[in-house]
Amino acid sequence: MTQNEKIKNAQRIMILDMGGQYCHLLARRIRQLGVYSEIMPAETKAEELEGSSGIILSGGPSSVYEKDSPQPDKNLFKLKKPILGLCYGHQLMAFHLGGKVRQGTTKEYGFAELMIKVSKGIFSGLKKKEQVWMSHGDEVVGLPDGFNAIGSTDDCKIAAMADEKRNYFGFQFHPEVTHTPNGMKMLKNFINICGCKRNYDVKNYFQTIELEIKRRLRNKKVFLLVSGGVDSTVCFVLLDRILGPKNVYGLFIDNGFIRKNEARIVMERIERLGFDNFHVHDASADFLEAVRGIVEPEEKRRIIGETFISVQKNVLRKLKLNPREWVLAQGTIYPDTIETKGTKNADLIKTHHNRVPLVQEMIEKGLVIEPLKSLYKDEVRELGKFLGLPNEMVWRHPFPGPGLAVRCLCSDGRDKKVDEANMKVKKIAQTHGYQSAVLPIKSVGVQGDARSYKHPAIVVGGLDWDMLEQLSTAITNKVREVNRVLYLVAPKEMVNLKLKKAYLTKNRLDLLREADRIVVLEMKKQNLYSKVWQFPVVIVPIGGESIILRPIVSTEAMTARFARLPKKFIDAVSKKILALGIRQVFYDVTNKPPGTIEWE
Ligand code: XMP
Repeated sequence: MTQNEKIKNAQRIMILDMGGQYCHLLARRIRQLGVYSEIMPAETKAEELEGSSGIILSGGPSSVYEKDSPQPDKNLFKLKKPILGLCYGHQLMAFHLGGKVRQGTTKEYGFAELMIKVSKGIFSGLKKKEQVWMSHGDEVVGLPDGFNAIGSTDDCKIAAMADEKRNYFGFQFHPEVTHTPNGMKMLKNFINICGCKRNYDVKNYFQTIELEIKRRLRNKKVFLLVSGGVDSTVCFVLLDRILGPKNVYGLFIDNGFIRKNEARIVMERIERLGFDNFHVHDASADFLEAVRGIVEPEEKRRIIGETFISVQKNVLRKLKLNPREWVLAQGTIYPDTIETKGTKNADLIKTHHNRVPLVQEMIEKGLVIEPLKSLYKDEVRELGKFLGLPNEMVWRHPFPGPGLAVRCLCSDGRDKKVDEANMKVKKIAQTHGYQSAVLPIKSVGVQGDARSYKHPAIVVGGLDWDMLEQLSTAITNKVREVNRVLYLVAPKEMVNLKLKKAYLTKNRLDLLREADRIVVLEMKKQNLYSKVWQFPVVIVPIGGESIILRPIVSTEAMTARFARLPKKFIDAVSKKILALGIRQVFYDVTNKPPGTIEWE
């Protein structure tokens, strides 16, 4: 049987995409559990779902009562298939089967404790209390006929419901994210309820991708921008392996937003692997000119993405590579597309540079290939290992395409009103024994599957991680204007929170590069590099210039927790950073959601 036939004949779980951030992650989880899964549009006709072994209704940013909210075909419930509804999918199920959904009184984001009624069926093998990850506003308040509440949390009485006769299940929380530690057990139970065998083999990604690329490219060659990060390097090596070195041209563009010494380090590593189809081009002056005076994050990303394309076109022209013979390849991975409204119902969180309008147009014309586009970071790393890349390349921390540009916050200097938010934050912080303030800048976040662009709050007090996490969750859940919480690490007292006019200039970027380098070197010195998943260092024009440390732990970047690094590390880096002339050093204590990993 061929690979494709194998896939076709396998049992499968269909996932209806209601626009949730985690929809694709769900598909991946089911594949990891050994069952083939496919994502289908929300409104897919019930008869097309006949061939499935079970159906999952994903989460999404809408409310069931909204006019244009995604809705499944009503005949879905006549198919007599097991159905699992998650978050918005859970609410949809209640709504369509005669239950009651209402706007939640508090928005609940982050951890919650699920009290399980009976550890059997969908909860087989689980304890009476399980940690789960919530991200929602609405909730189910009335059960449909035939259903029982099988789990609850403090804030949500019907956090899980089941009609075991019909094999219908609904969870308000997300079992697919790693922050629901036993979520995989729940999904496995659902797979068992669906009667699936768990024999789908994921090890053959390489062959699948090879077939797909050869089919699409025919005799064309590929031109690829390599940033030196895991994704683009794996993509380059993969294409080189499949198409041969003569058909692949790798180009590193120095856009002026890279780390200190980055171009040299990347070139040396790639040359050590024996590639000679890799080149470096310094375009930093073009990029800095293009973003002069820009403040708005989406605008920055759009300009940088488009400058990448125009610089690349110039290079192609100079190299005399005929566009009819060459296509563009990108190392885009799945989280890059979902957060740019990559699926029909997902809200736009931020535009990744490889999804800006010009690239989108090229994709639509079939001029771009993206071999890694359905993979997650950990899958890309697995592929990298399979292709024989050394650990230092496979385990590099991810670095965004627009680089330090999205970590260098800009401002036109006009103060934003934050008095009301200040008061609300103060009340909450005081009950935890902390002083607080709200900063007059904004950063991007993700709450309940939708983008937010709101103020960070800062808190000042003792370094108690559990308390800080609690406080951070309380503030972002209760204060509508705030999506992030920062802890002041140095100096001990609040100094100056005044906003100044500041743009993306070489001087500010150089200052950020120095702070970033201090962090990277100290992480390596204290053996912490492999303990965090990514460590953005951010500069904000507050009180002169301030630096924010944003170390996080994650496995697939769709959700993340802030990392709790040793005091010894924090003290060492903040001392060195203050010595650069930086006024304050903050530590970002926000999980994702409600914050995103990057600030813009
Ligand atoms: P967020 O900030 O959305 O980041 O939580 C998730 C992951 O994606 C990376 N990231 C990007 N990568 N182009 C990229 O190639 C981009 O425009 C971009 N923006 C964010 C981010 O560093 C994190 O690993």
